[in-house]
Amino acid sequence: MSTHTAVPEDTLNGAGRGGNLERYDPEFTDKVINAMGPKTNPRLRTIMTSLIRHVHDFARECDLTVDEWMMGVNMINRCGQMSDDKRNESQLLCDVIGLETLVDEITFKLAGEATDLATQSAILGPFYRHDVPLSEMGTNISDNTPNDAVPAYMFGKVTSAKTGKPLANVEIDIWQASTNGLYEQQDPEQKDCNLRGRFKTGPNGEYSLYCLKPTPYPVPDDGPAGELLNLMDRQPFRPAHIHILAQCEGHKPIITQIFDKDSKFLDDDSVFAVKDALVVTFDPRKGDKLAQYELHYDVVLKSM
Ligand code: BEZ
Ligand code: FE
Repeated sequence: MSTHTAVPEDTLNGAGRGGNLERYDPEFTDKVINAMGPKTNPRLRTIMTSLIRHVHDFARECDLTVDEWMMGVNMINRCGQMSDDKRNESQLLCDVIGLETLVDEITFKLAGEATDLATQSAILGPFYRHDVPLSEMGTNISDNTPNDAVPAYMFGKVTSAKTGKPLANVEIDIWQASTNGLYEQQDPEQKDCNLRGRFKTGPNGEYSLYCLKPTPYPVPDDGPAGELLNLMDRQPFRPAHIHILAQCEGHKPIITQIFDKDSKFLDDDSVFAVKDALVVTFDPRKGDKLAQYELHYDVVLKSM
C-alpha cells in the first residue's frame, strides 16, 4: 500500500467475507425508513427511502465493520476539510466513482426527448467559474502561453435542434486547463480567468476564439479522491478536453466537454465523462500566425 494513503494498513484485510444476509435483523431497515414523519417532503422521502435501503443492503452485503465504516467517515470528513472555493474534493470523490457522470446522464434524459441532433452533455467538473467577464469574438483566452502549448483556433455556430436555424445572443462559456495540468484557480502562476472565455454569439449564431489544443491532465490526487484511485489501482488522468457551457433564452442550457480524438486516456478517463459524440478533430490551420490547429465545433441546443 502506498505511503501517501491515510487508510490504516490492516483495515482492509479479509476480502472474501459476506453472503449470509439472514443473520442480520430483517426488520431493521424498515424501522429506520418508517421513522420519517408525515411532514417529510415527498421527494425527500423517496430519495431517503431508497438511500437508506441501498446503504443498509451495501453494509450487509459487504459485512461492513466499524473500522471500515470509520475509514469512510474519515475520508468524507477530510474531503470537507480540504474543500473551499478553489477545490471541491467531495465532488471529485463522486467523480472518480462515476456518480457525477451518472447523474448528468439522468438529468439530461429527464430534460426531455433526446434528439440525436442536440449536443450531448458531459459533467461540469469542479473547475467552472460563473464570474468570467465577457470577451469579444475572436479573443485569445491564453495569457502568457507556455512554450510547450500548441495554440488553436476554435469556432462554430450555435443552432436550434428544432428549427436548425442559428441562435443569436447565446452565452457560451469555454474553459480549459493549461499544459501543466492546472486550471487558473489551482495555479498562482496563471492570471485570473486565464484560459476561460465567455462569449455571446452574433446574429448568425457564430462564436470564435483562440485557445490551446488541450492536453491530458491528472485530477488532483493529493487528497481522499487520489487515495481512493490509488487503493483501486487506477490512474488519475483525464483525456485532453475543453469545457463548454452554452445558454440561451427559450432553450435548455447545455454543459459539455469535447475531447481531442488523438488524446491518450480516451478509453480510461478517470471520471468516465467521454462519449463518442463528443470526440472532435483538430485540423492543421494554414496562414494564421496565432494558431497551428483549428477546431470547428457547432453546438445544437434543445428548445424548452
Ligand atoms: C474537469 O474536467 O475539469 C474535471 C472533472 C472532474 C473531476 C476533476 C476535473
Ligand atoms: Fe477539465
